[in-house]
Amino acid sequence: MFPASCKFVTLRTEGMMDRSSAERQEICDGLLQQPARIAPKYFYDVRGSALFEEITRLAEYYPTRTEAAVMQAHGADIAQKVGAGGTVIEFGAGSCEKARVLCRLLRPQGFVAVDISAEFLHDAVARMRAESPGLDVQPLVADLCAVVELPADLPRRKRLLFYPGSSIGNFDPPQALALLERFRGLIDADGALLIGIDLVKDIAVLEAAYDDAAGVTAAFNLNLLDHVNRLIGSDFEPAGWRHVAFYNAAASRIEMHLEALTATRVSWPGGRRQFAAGERIHTENSYKYRLADFHALLGRAGFARCDAWTDPRHWFAVVLAQP
Ligand code: AVJ
Repeated sequence: MFPASCKFVTLRTEGMMDRSSAERQEICDGLLQQPARIAPKYFYDVRGSALFEEITRLAEYYPTRTEAAVMQAHGADIAQKVGAGGTVIEFGAGSCEKARVLCRLLRPQGFVAVDISAEFLHDAVARMRAESPGLDVQPLVADLCAVVELPADLPRRKRLLFYPGSSIGNFDPPQALALLERFRGLIDADGALLIGIDLVKDIAVLEAAYDDAAGVTAAFNLNLLDHVNRLIGSDFEPAGWRHVAFYNAAASRIEMHLEALTATRVSWPGGRRQFAAGERIHTENSYKYRLADFHALLGRAGFARCDAWTDPRHWFAVVLAQP
């Protein structure tokens, strides 16, 4: 339902200058839909990226630390299944923090960090090169929503695509399938996809993770309005809205919305909209999977073999999918 959110921690460009008019159009169109929506990729301006980092450290937000624990506990096993050598390609690499751990385990020949933000990548790649002199590190600026073209001279042999963080959760099922199919097209029979997915669990645990007591997720959600104001020149008053997050069990997803506290009118160059008190803007879906369903999805995308590792509570899974 959303134009895919594709990226998360690193969409750091600010203001309207470097935004395509297509993106501005997308935002305006979304605001005029019934119900209104804003794609989650617009969370990540500089403040939004910092708030997301803060979210990953919250007691309630289990995914980041649970995934790290799974990688820590089963890294040797994962490395053994993947084998040495080849090229690691991380999507949404950002600071390359997770890839650093993975490359220490796998000792690949090459590492490609794919991210939408050039400046963010530049620093991360420089750090990575300094740390691992033997490793061929290449940055690739690309938006996962679009068709990602890997460099023509990148070896096809033993490519490991790495997509951690349950970022795939922002895509609805047809979009997730399309993304997995595109991943499949980037590798040969000797390649693999290593992907993090958040699992279905107790609703109270899920809802707390997206509505923390300190209000960081609320600030993250509301910050979207400030960002949109800068992007399209709208006049949202964030103080007039509240954060709403709940688990939609039928759709197997957390939904985040912004709800108008009172009747308000929002205007931007070329448009305006009246919101009634209690009316919402849908800002994010975060899908939660059952492992069996995710395996089936991988199968439809052309991955026949799957291994999965999880934490003792089965809250998060790291899945290795091979053709
Ligand atoms: C970055 C998409 C994985 O869905 O958990 C965190 C984003 N939103 N808290 C997630 C998010 C609210 C996050 N992903």
